[in-house]
Amino acid sequence: MSLFTSVARPALFRLGGGDAEHAHEWTLERLAKLPAPALAAMRRWYGFSAPVEVFGVRFPNRVGLAAGVDKNGIALPAWPALGFGFVEVGTVTAKPQPGNDKPRLFRAKASEGIVNRMGFNNAGAAALADRLAELGPLDVPLGVSLGKSKVTPLEDAVEDYLTSYRLLHPYADYIAVNVSSPNTPGLRTLQDKDAIAALLKALAGPVPVLVKIAPDLTRPAIAELLDVCLDHGAAGIIATNTTLSRDGLAAADRHLASEAGGLSGAPLTARAREVVRFVHTESGGRLPIIGVGGIMSADDASRMFDAGAALVQLYSGFIYKGPDLVLEVARGARPSRAAAAR
Ligand SMILES: Cc1cc2nc3c(=O)[nH]c(=O)nc-3n(C[C@H](O)[C@H](O)[C@H](O)COP(=O)(O)O)c2cc1C
Repeated sequence: MSLFTSVARPALFRLGGGDAEHAHEWTLERLAKLPAPALAAMRRWYGFSAPVEVFGVRFPNRVGLAAGVDKNGIALPAWPALGFGFVEVGTVTAKPQPGNDKPRLFRAKASEGIVNRMGFNNAGAAALADRLAELGPLDVPLGVSLGKSKVTPLEDAVEDYLTSYRLLHPYADYIAVNVSSPNTPGLRTLQDKDAIAALLKALAGPVPVLVKIAPDLTRPAIAELLDVCLDHGAAGIIATNTTLSRDGLAAADRHLASEAGGLSGAPLTARAREVVRFVHTESGGRLPIIGVGGIMSADDASRMFDAGAALVQLYSGFIYKGPDLVLEVARGARPSRAAAAR
C-alpha cells in the first residue's frame, strides 16, 4: 500500500461529501497553483526518461495523461512533473459548453472503475488556444483532443472540428479526433466510414492526426475504420474510450449499472487490450496505437504494449493509484521487442 492509497486517496475521496467531480476540480486547482520549486522537486522524484519516437514525435517516456483529466489545460505544467511523458488536453469543442447536468461522475470503488457522462464540459477551443499561447511550450509532447459541440448538428460536424483545429493545431504535437465519447448524442456515428473519411480529409496537414475509438465497435466496423484511416493518412489510433457495457462491475457497484454514461477503469482492461490487439493485427502494424483503458498496474501496461500499443495513457488508474502508477509504468512496463521497435 502506498502513501497515496493509504492517506491521500481516502482524503480526496471524502472531499465534498464524496462528490467525485468536486474532488477532481479541487485537485486540479491545487496542481495548477504549485510553485516552480515544488514542480521541480516532484519532477526529480517522479520523472523517468526512456525516450522513444512514435509517429515522428519524440516522447521522453511512453506514459501519457489521457484526455478528459485536464480538459482546459488548467494544470499543464504539473503533469510532466508527475512523470507523464505526454499530455492530451481536451476534449474541447468549437463552442464553450457546460456539459450534462450534475451529478455526472461516479466512482465504482469496489470495481476500481468510473462511470461518467460529463458531456464535454469545456471552456471552448479559443480559451484553450489562449491558455496555450500564454503558457508557451510544455517540455513534453502535447496532444489536443477535439470533439463536436453539442449544439452543432451532425451534418455540420466537419466544420465544427475544423474551427477547433484551426485555433489549436499550432500548439499541438498531435491532434486526437474524438468520435467515441458516448456522452454526446450521435457522436459515435462519426466513426462510420464516410464520416471519418470526411473528417480526416479536412484535418489533413502537418500535425499528426489520431482517431480515438470506442471499445464497443464490432470487429468489422473497426476494420472498415482502419482502412479509411490508412487511406487518409491518419497517424495512428487511440484505443479506447469508455464503454457502454457494464460487465465487470463488482456487486457493490451494481447500482451504477443504471447510470447513463461510459465506464472506465479495471472493468475495461481486457476489452481495451483486445481492441488494441485487433487494431494492431488488422492494420499490419502500420498504424501506431496509443493504448488506453483499464491500465491499473505496470503489468496491465506491459500487456497493452504486447498487444501492440506503442504508447499508453492513464485516467482511472491515476485516480485510484496516484502518481506512483505513472512512475511504475514508465519504469517497469516492458514492451516486447516488437513493440519497442515501433
Ligand atoms: C471523467 C472522465 C472524463 C473523460 N473525458 C474524456 C474526454 O473529454 N475525451 C476523451 O477522449 N476521453 C475522455 N475520457 C476517456 C479517457 O480518456 C479514457 O479513454 C478512458 O477513461 C479509458 O481509460 P481508463 O480506464 O484509464 O480511465 C474520460 C474519462 C473519464 C473517466
